[in-house]
Amino acid sequence: MRAEFLPYCRPYIEQDDIAAVTDTLSRGWLTTGPKVREFEQLFGAAAGVKHAVALNSCTAAIHLGFLALGAGEGDEIVMPSLSFVAGANCAVQIGATPVFCDVDPKTLCLSVETIERVVTPRTKIIMTMHYAGRPANAAPIVAWAKPRGIKVFEDAALAIGMLDDGQWSGTRADAAAYSFYATKNVTSAEGGMFLTNDDELMERVRILALHGMDRDAWKRYTSAGSWRYDIVEHGYKDNMPDLAAALGISQLKKLDKMQRRRDEIAQKFIAGVEQIPGISVGGLGDLGPKDRHSWCMFPILVDEAEAGIGRDRLIEELKAKNIGTSVHYIPSHHFTAHKRLKADVPVTEALWQRLISLPLFPGMNDADVADVLEALRTSVPGKVSQAV
Ligand SMILES: Cc1ncc(COP(=O)(O)O)c(C=O)c1O
Repeated sequence: MRAEFLPYCRPYIEQDDIAAVTDTLSRGWLTTGPKVREFEQLFGAAAGVKHAVALNSCTAAIHLGFLALGAGEGDEIVMPSLSFVAGANCAVQIGATPVFCDVDPKTLCLSVETIERVVTPRTKIIMTMHYAGRPANAAPIVAWAKPRGIKVFEDAALAIGMLDDGQWSGTRADAAAYSFYATKNVTSAEGGMFLTNDDELMERVRILALHGMDRDAWKRYTSAGSWRYDIVEHGYKDNMPDLAAALGISQLKKLDKMQRRRDEIAQKFIAGVEQIPGISVGGLGDLGPKDRHSWCMFPILVDEAEAGIGRDRLIEELKAKNIGTSVHYIPSHHFTAHKRLKADVPVTEALWQRLISLPLFPGMNDADVADVLEALRTSVPGKVSQAV
């Protein structure tokens, strides 16, 4: 058994990341300014999307995205319940109703088929989510929704480094929201990015993100700026500071290196997990030749009858062997705050109780990977044969 606890996640911070942040600290401009603009340009260019607006979280990008897409009182927003609760909370906050949609058991993502079951004349937005970083097949969803006048928004929190049929999130849908939270493939400690090819959407999100102001501080406080500004709508305070953007830029520059290590670890896990009875990798079905998983998470599914141990007990066994894990996700409709909402999601109900996310981060060495597999192997007894 390993001597030290292996956490579920550890950010991959190197000397260049620290230098980037301290350099920004020493320059005297901390809040939204040149670093944020640079991060937006680099991220938008990497994604192949016209506009990128840096915000203080992916949650803010979802919230402002819903508003910019015109959702509000009386509208319905279709989303997976098997996701982080941010989307459901944002829908309620703007007076809309989150409509929980089931996932395809092969992908753990929404599909046109599961969406068709819950869409009504009040559906304003479909929000897909790339579960664990596996591409959610945005193209067929966009093709289905567009002629019906329904907007498609991608919750791309887990999708940095992912390719969905050869493209980043935000290239096909109306917009996408990325996360730079500490557990994500690129981190800025906290942060998010709103991506869109639509000029008006971009402008609306920019204004809403800073009090509804028509010009930001960088434009007001630099030598070329002016003190005058107007408030053109009732906005929020969701801007990203330069300090966070400095870290984000430094991280983005080594995304390829970090992604390669995630890919290597994932391949070792896939090979190892296949040997363990009752354990399979979650959501790997139907990956196309131009799809690329981001491996933001590595979800396994526990089949209790075959494994001889249930999900909850396996988590405890792994913890006792110094392996940290997590569960993605407790379905949103299970939470007290969302219990009043109906959710007819049998696949979600059955699968979430079997899901465990194993630790997977670029700083893991081969011994860490072997320790995780060894802990799994020694915790899973396999089917206990019935005495006759
Ligand atoms: C699927 C999903 N969407 C949205 C979010 C929210 O991201 P943030 O913490 O940047 O607001 C998360 C965070 O973990 C997430 O997993």
